[in-house]
This record gives sequence, C-alpha cells and structure tokens, in this order.
Amino acid sequence: MARNPSQPLIQANAVIRNIKQLVTVAQQPIPGASGPLQVISNAAIAAHDGVIVWIGADDDAEPMFQHKTGSRTDGITVVDAQGTVVTPGLVDSHTHLVFAGDRAEEFHLRRSGVSYAELLAQGRGILTTVNATRSTDAETLMALATARLDTMRHCGTTTVEVKTGYGLDTITEETCLRIINNLNALQATPSQAHSRVRVVPTFLGAHTIPPEYREKRNEYVDLVVEEMLPSFVGLARFCDVFCEREAFSLEESRRILTRAKESGYQVKIHADQLSPSGGAKLAAELGATSADHLDFASDADLDALREAGVVATLLPGCSYSLRTPYPSARRFLDHGLHVALATDFNPGTSYCENMQMILGLAMSNMGMSLEEALTAATINGARALALQDQIGSIEVGKHCELTLWSIQDYHEIGYHFGVNLVHSVLVIAS
Ligand code: NIG
Ligand code: FE
Repeated sequence: MARNPSQPLIQANAVIRNIKQLVTVAQQPIPGASGPLQVISNAAIAAHDGVIVWIGADDDAEPMFQHKTGSRTDGITVVDAQGTVVTPGLVDSHTHLVFAGDRAEEFHLRRSGVSYAELLAQGRGILTTVNATRSTDAETLMALATARLDTMRHCGTTTVEVKTGYGLDTITEETCLRIINNLNALQATPSQAHSRVRVVPTFLGAHTIPPEYREKRNEYVDLVVEEMLPSFVGLARFCDVFCEREAFSLEESRRILTRAKESGYQVKIHADQLSPSGGAKLAAELGATSADHLDFASDADLDALREAGVVATLLPGCSYSLRTPYPSARRFLDHGLHVALATDFNPGTSYCENMQMILGLAMSNMGMSLEEALTAATINGARALALQDQIGSIEVGKHCELTLWSIQDYHEIGYHFGVNLVHSVLVIAS
C-alpha cells in the first residue's frame, strides 16, 4: 500500500534538511558515516520534542518529510540548514561570565614582564574585578552577562558553565548566582528557544580571599562552608575552588569541597595552574567531575585523574593571555584521559568568548588534531558538566542542539582563523 507522504515513518515534529556535512563524535557509529569522526554528506536530522530521533541522508528524508522547508505542515517544522556544515553545539565548560570592569591594564603590564601571581599578591588581579563587581548593580551585571552570552552564541556555543567568584560575600555571590540562573530563564521564551544557550551554574566563592578577610582567612573559609554553601543549594550545580598558593591551600580546598559534596553539589577544581598545588590529586580523591588548568600536573597526577574518571579541562586562552607555555594535550591524551577544552572566559587570564579561537590554539600549540579538538569542545565538554548522556554529540536520544558553520568542509575549522566561521546555533525546543 502506498504510504501517505505526509505521514512520517518516524514520529518527529521537526526535521532539519539541507545539511552539507554533518560531523559528530558518536558513542554508537551512525550507519553510512565514516572516519575518526562520524561524517555524513548531504544529511538530515529529525527530532521529536527536542530529542533526536533520526539521522541520515537528506535523500532518505525526502519521502518521510516531504514538506517545503520553512513550512509547518501536520505539526512538523522543517528547518533549512542552508547547506551549512553541522556539528554538535559547542560546549564551553569553564567560564567566569559575571563581572564588571576590565583588566586591560594588567594584560599590558604582563607584556612588560610583571607576572599574574605578582599582581594577585599585590591585591590586584581577581580583587580588582571583585571591587568593580561589588560596586555594580544587579541590573548592569545582568546586562553585561547577557551581552557576553550573545557573543558566545554567535560564536557557536550552545552550553556554557558559568562560575561566580567576583562577589566573595554572601550577598554578592548570591546576586551573581541569581543572574546566572536568570540567563537560563530569560531565554525560555518561544522566540528565543531556537537559539537558547544552556547555562550551568557553579559556585566559586573560594576564588580568592577577599580583602576584609586578609588577616583572618580561616573565617572566610568558615563563611564559605557554614553560610554560603548551605544557602546556595539549588542555585548552583557545581562547587569549584581555586586551589593555589595565592588562593586556597590544599587543606582549605579539601574542607570546602568535601562539605560541598555532602550538601549535594558536584565538584570541580582549578588545579595546578600556577604551581604544583596538589589540586589534581585532590580532584581524584574527591571524584571531581573535572580538574581544570593542570599546567603543572605530574604524570602521577594524570594517572590518578584517569583512574578516578575525572575529566581534564585544558584552557589555552590562559597560556595566550599569560604568555605561559601551553600544556601538551598529547600528554593528557596519551595518559588515556578525557580532555575537554574551554575558554575560561574571564577579565584576567582569558578575555575570550569564542570557542573557535580555543580550538585553533589547541591545534596549533597543544598538539591536538582537529578530531581531538572537536571531541574536546563537544562531547568531552559535556562530560566535564556530567551532561554527556544528554548533549555533546548528534545521536539518537540526545537533545538536538547544533552549531551551523558557514564553511564547505569541517577541515576549515582551525585552518581559517581569526574570523567567525559560525552561521548560527540551532536548538530544537522540547
Ligand atoms: O581560571 N585561576 C583563577 N581564576 C581564573 C582567573 C580569574 C581572574 O584572573 O579574574 C582562571 O584563570
Ligand atoms: Fe577559571
């Protein structure tokens, strides 16, 4: 019996057609795809209630979804990908998006030889931004964060983790957490749903000791543990600590993160960034979701992270900005670690919203192949947020969250640099 062409074989309420090249990492190989990444030319994707239900050749989509693109027939929305290259939405798993002011002066001082650690020890660095953030009203902070999120979206990011850490008192940290949560809520309107960026909140009250606690640091750690952590349950999914000589000691970090875990947070650590601080070992000991930076992590640290299933997040924007050696991603990969790449967007060490720049730096300075870098910026970014079952790849059962690139072939990524190659992001709403 002839099939009614308006009746899809698969239950779907959205279909994306005219994809020149679909590129993804997939846990399950996709039929018809080949190569280290799964690549399908002239592809289509179908989704139902925001979840991918079918991936295949555009020609095969024809009999199933015979609707003109852009039309809405029988409840199916057909989206024309306009011959773009389509990858999973980029996942930026480490950012400090909410702050006021800038630190251009420090960037240029560092060009003349002053180090980041010296500036921090002088009470500049993070504390400069803490002062600016504390003296800015919530509405302005929200507007600044919204503009930065828009830039990220235009550069292809569909999921971003955002940390607090420039308030460092209970009220300002809470204000920043509410702003981070509002960034999610405000995009839930139907008109924004197709380009919505998922925002994952992290509490980083232990970013540095605020000036008023300089002579009584134990009391600040008490404040984080006894007051902030219990108050912010439900507002933040992760708790992070800057474990470093100039910030929080190993013991202080252990105390904060242990309490965070007991309170239901998942944990992350800024580990071994400026010196071998023991942060990576602590991440392994506590079963952190990710350990980030890791410039000074030893081979034994990397083994411990792998054994504990901790994602290693590398942040080449810091090496660019601080003029420090780039960590060798090869070394991490050779240790069998899941490596994620993120911007670390912040006004001090990496003032960059653009994951394309990060992919390029990783390929040119850290020994990553394009395939490894794309894996690090998609599925491994998702892993660094414990979201790998929901996002990070284009696979049946995952949320349909995509980055569309205005290129002919995915090998242009990293090669054509310094310009925005992203056409748009596309999120099929649930
Ligand atoms: O990830 N290392 C600590 N925190 C940030 C820098 C924040 C700042 O300098 O404002 C980082 O590099
Ligand atoms: Fe950071």
